[in-house]
Amino acid sequence: MLHTRVCDLLGIQYPIIQGGLGHISGGELAAAVSNAGGLGTIALTTRSPELYVQEKWPISVRNEIKLTKSLTKKPFAVNVPMDNYVHEKFVEAAIYGQLCPRKIC
Ligand SMILES: Cc1cc2nc3c(=O)[nH]c(=O)nc-3n(C[C@H](O)[C@H](O)[C@H](O)COP(=O)(O)O)c2cc1C
Repeated sequence: MLHTRVCDLLGIQYPIIQGGLGHISGGELAAAVSNAGGLGTIALTTRSPELYVQEKWPISVRNEIKLTKSLTKKPFAVNVPMDNYVHEKFVEAAIYGQLCPRKIC
């Protein structure tokens, strides 16, 4: 199958990046895509009703990062749209989750 520079950059087997799907793509989907050789992506928006207010979404992202890490040892991503006022908190959450130990993002 096709192997491109993005595979080497991201440490993935196939040049397939799953798009973020708000309220849909959480840890299970991201881990499944990553385990299949692509790059799974956690969406910013929560899937948990109790975390629905925007200020609590970073908590949700942390939970989803933890879940994803428990399901895959492969690289995955967090999708951070910049059109909301808490996006810095998402970046903090990703750093807290040590999502980018290779500092490629
Ligand atoms: C239900 C739904 C939710 C989406 N949520 C997001 C999102 O949170 N962030 C984002 O960057 N894109 C979001 N998208 C866009 C998708 O990630 C993707 O870019 C788009 O569906 C195009 O897919 P394609 O590249 O296969 O054509 C969403 C799309 C759908 C259908």
